[in-house]
Amino acid sequence: LAKIEIKLSDIPEGKNVTFKWRGKPLFIRHRTADEISTERSVDVSTLRDPQHDSDRAQKPEWLVLIGVCTHLGCVPIANSGDFGGYYCPCHGSHYDASGRIRKGPAPLNLEIPPYEFPDENLLVVG
Ligand code: FES
Repeated sequence: LAKIEIKLSDIPEGKNVTFKWRGKPLFIRHRTADEISTERSVDVSTLRDPQHDSDRAQKPEWLVLIGVCTHLGCVPIANSGDFGGYYCPCHGSHYDASGRIRKGPAPLNLEIPPYEFPDENLLVVG
């Protein structure tokens, strides 16, 4: 199984960086305190695919996502759309900064791959 190691100090706060993992785009987002508090305060009963932010991010400042729209598989654009997360230009799906679908045709939240933090500065996905 292919794993990818990412040095977290390379990704400044507020940035989303795209890697490639198992042939798919992998999004790593270093979230700001504002983004974290916004996503943690969302009422999940209003969501199409209800998930708490705390169940999607092991560490609140790091969001790890597969960058494939759950509608028909396009690659969403980071820091774009109506909810400050990701926007898929193919048919207009808006995801929040937890990768949850908020508006548009996509049925599900962006997928979260298996990952762990072996130490403070290292993320391993896969
Ligand atoms: Fe993203 Fe259709 S593939 S909205």
